[in-house]
Amino acid sequence: MIRPRVEVFGNPGLLAAAAEREVLRVIAFALGERGICAIALSGGETPRALYRRLADPADGEEPDWSRVHLCFGDERMVHPDDPASNYGMVRDELIAHIPLPAGNVHRIRGERPPDVAAREYAADIESVLSRTGGQLDLVLLGLGEDGHTASLFPGTEVLNERTLPVRAVQASVGPRVTLTLPVINGAREILFLVSGGAKSTVVRRILQPAAGEPPLPASLVQASSSPPFWMLDAAAAAALHRTM
Ligand code: 6PG
Repeated sequence: MIRPRVEVFGNPGLLAAAAEREVLRVIAFALGERGICAIALSGGETPRALYRRLADPADGEEPDWSRVHLCFGDERMVHPDDPASNYGMVRDELIAHIPLPAGNVHRIRGERPPDVAAREYAADIESVLSRTGGQLDLVLLGLGEDGHTASLFPGTEVLNERTLPVRAVQASVGPRVTLTLPVINGAREILFLVSGGAKSTVVRRILQPAAGEPPLPASLVQASSSPPFWMLDAAAAAALHRTM
């Protein structure tokens, strides 16, 4: 296993600023190399501060959004105006504030039946991948306290999916649609953004597993091209042994 890259930042604000720099770096590199960039964004609360910063970058730092495609790692099967919608959060914090063409937003239609939304999103993702050399440039991931990431929850059979890029899953928290490990691990870069003391135990379990501890879904994220980059704030990193 390639050792993941881990960096710890003093507080959530410093974490969001560093994550913004990292995302802007990935976009600039992809646009320079291929003239197009495709990013799968994570949902939940942690990335909100990052998206707010990307919506208002420092002077001269704004990317050419016309060549950036925003996809989603997963979605809760709710209407986009539902407060739980990952797309709705990204729309309100980022998309509504940047000159991103509507055709560059690849959302999972949470208002549709899960299997239909999964099929439609799979076709959309395949279309994006056909333009980006078969890989997403970046997958941004969060981490649940149970070790889930995207909507890949412990003990669910979607963890064994090796072919389909997208699956509908019936999670204990409700119906979801998620990217699968083949697409996530096929990305050029993977960035975990984790904040808060509530995640410190699961972060240690994933980055420094004790002998015999079974792997968690986030442990299965192993990009083929580069190790995942774990960006943590001090609270989320508090249980890590200092040998990292
Ligand atoms: C979701 C996310 C999920 C999230 C983690 C962490 O739809 O909820 O895709 O994987 O990243 O649950 O969520 P928080 O950032 O809210 O702790």
